[in-house]
Order: sequence, then structure tokens, then C-alpha cells
Amino acid sequence: MNIKKTISPIPMEEFNISYPDEKGTPIFSLPPELYWSKEFYEFELNAVWRSDWICVGRANEIPNAGDYNTITIGNDPLIVIRDRSGAVNVMSNVCQHKGMLILEGRGNTRRLQCPLHAWVYSTKGDLVTAPGLSDVEEDFDVKDVCLPKIRTDMWEGFIFITFDETIPSLQDRLGHLGEQIKNYGLAEMRGPEPLEMQTFDWNWKIFNDECYHCGYLHASSWGEMYPLPPSAVDEASIYNDGSKGIVSYDLLSTHIDAAPTNTGTILQPPLPGLTDEERKRLSYITVAPNMFIVAMPDKVKYFIWLPAGPKQTFYGVSWLYPESTLARDDFKKNYEQEHTDLWPVMEEDLFAWRRTQAGMESSFATRGRLTSKEQVIHRLQKWLIDKYRAEDAAVRAQDTSASAKVG
Ligand code: FES
Ligand SMILES: [Fe+2]
Repeated sequence: MNIKKTISPIPMEEFNISYPDEKGTPIFSLPPELYWSKEFYEFELNAVWRSDWICVGRANEIPNAGDYNTITIGNDPLIVIRDRSGAVNVMSNVCQHKGMLILEGRGNTRRLQCPLHAWVYSTKGDLVTAPGLSDVEEDFDVKDVCLPKIRTDMWEGFIFITFDETIPSLQDRLGHLGEQIKNYGLAEMRGPEPLEMQTFDWNWKIFNDECYHCGYLHASSWGEMYPLPPSAVDEASIYNDGSKGIVSYDLLSTHIDAAPTNTGTILQPPLPGLTDEERKRLSYITVAPNMFIVAMPDKVKYFIWLPAGPKQTFYGVSWLYPESTLARDDFKKNYEQEHTDLWPVMEEDLFAWRRTQAGMESSFATRGRLTSKEQVIHRLQKWLIDKYRAEDAAVRAQDTSASAKVG
């Protein structure tokens, strides 16, 4: 990977007022530049996106050999593909001849053929033929060339990747979450359609979710369907594991199978295996930096986002159900109704995200004080600033040792 490492263009001391401490000192939002500065974005790509595990979708969205999806993280287009042995491989989508992108969108293919000069790669990323070289030049060995492979692992049916070969395993990264969420049967769930990413014109951090806004922005939409915070929100959710970047709150209802629908209750059958307590709540779990899980009595929704630029993000959502629900005759009707009921809430979020990004770029944008009702943001800021500090310190240490060698 050819990357330029830089120190943070914003001095680390500036983050101190955004970092929660044990004493409960008031804390403030992140600097507005973090939502639009190109220099900071480049630093952040290294600090966050190239140094952690990133969720890139569900393995059962590419069930057959040769099924693929293409994604981009920062400047890096990638292919997510299932090979003939059944393994999911993630590799660079950049042809190792002259850089053309090999695939686009989703599909199925037996081999990866670059459109420009027809170099062919296997579904494992190995070069198979290169016309004019592999058949002509004796000193050219296809074994010397492959699409750069990205470290990949699975968790509960989700595909994760990391550009960093040295960080601990995905299982370590996700701590107890798999055990805590096991009653939902996440690994066996499936979306009725694949998650589609769309591009939005705001920085990825805009998606960081809290429920301070629920009782205001969503007062009439959500408020008609489900009990509203503050009484219903529990920020001490069991899923919280701040050091792992897992940050959560629960919305609590007084009745079983409550859901944000026009009937106030779930439209699909409850998930088998949930406790009564789980059936009375909605759990909102952010797995930093790019995944958001909403565990509900009848389904699990997941959102992922990937950076596309300082002011652009790819964003997508999918709703997961057990096969028994997907197979029901009334599934589609209820699924459409669930979407219709929730759409006004989504529209309000899109409206808020667009207008928040617009405000961040004003010369009057400031660092407002956070409330105690934004524990999720306190925790996410802590995780994020730890990442910034680690990257900044590592680059400084490298620079010092390089200049010591020169000296
Ligand atoms: S750029 Fe891909 S084969 Fe030449
Ligand atoms: Fe919202």
C-alpha cells in the first residue's frame, strides 16, 4: 500500500475539550474542520480507516462461487468475491498492469478480466494470463503478479476487512458482542435484498447516532409509534464496550414486541429465542467506525458507511430476518409496510445530516457543549480521539527516528 503518513493538521491539544474524563468535566463537540478539511481527512484515513476492522457487508449476499460486490474505502476500490472453494476474498480492484478498475457494481464472474488489455485474474486474485507477456516473454511469470489481497475475517455473517496486518484479530476487536447478541441468531439472518450503498454529500462522522434528537427531530414521526426519550432511553445498555469502540443505548418499552410501526407493534413474527426483556427493547449498537446495528424484536437492521472524501460518504442499510420470516406469504406486504411507516423518520435524519454538514462549513461553526443525554457521542469521541492520538504519536515517533538516523 502506497500511503503518505502525516501528523494531524490540527494540534492534538485541541481535542482535549472533546475528550471525556473521569471527573465529568464538560465536554464539547469535535472541531468543525473534521467534517470538511481535506488535510484532516487524509490523516483520518490512516488514523481510523487503515488501522482498524471495517465492516463491508454480509457474506450471504454473495452466496455462490464468483458472486462479487465492489466497494470503495477512501481512495481504494476493492472487490469482495466468493471463490470456488467457498471462501470470501477481498482484494484491490486495481489492475496491476496500468491501473484500470477491473469490475463495477455487483455480479457473478468466473474470472476477473481487465477490460483494457484483457489481463485475467482468478477469483483469488492471482494473475492467470497477460496477453503478450505470459504467452510470449520467457522472463515473465504470472506468479509474480496478483491483485493485492486485503486481510479478511467474518463475524456473525458479516465480512470485515483491515488494511493493517498487525492489529489483533476481529474476534478480539469485537469482544463480547457476539455472545451478548447471540439470541438474535444474527449469523443465519438474511436481507430480502442486498444492501446498496448510495453516495451522500456529508462527512462520515455525521452518521454518529445518539437519541438526544429523537424526542425533537422525530417527535411526531417516531413519537406516534414508540415511547419517546428521555424516559425510554437507557444509555447504560449491556452492549457498551468503550475501549473496543462499541457504543450503545437501548430504547425501552413497557410492552412486549413494541416496534416503530403504525400499530406500535412488530409486523413480522418475533425472533425465536429472545428473552422477554429483549422483546421489550430496541438496542442501538454502533461498532466504530462504520457499522450500526439495531436489534429489534422481529429483525436486526444494519447500516454501514464508508468514506468517499472529506465531504462525501457511501451509506447503506439492510434489514435482516430469519429464513422462517422471509418464507412467509405475508412477508413482503409487512416488509413494505414497515418501510412506509419508518420512511418519515429516515427523511428527517437525511434532512438533519444534510443541514448539519452545511453548518459545519460556516465560519461561525463552533464547538458546542454536549449534554449528558449524548453519552453515545461522548464515548465515540473518546474512541476516535484515542485513534487520532495514536496515529499522530506514531508518525511523530517515526519522523524522530528517521531524522536521528540522518543526523
Ligand atoms: S490496465 Fe488492465 S490489462 Fe492493462
Ligand atoms: Fe434520527
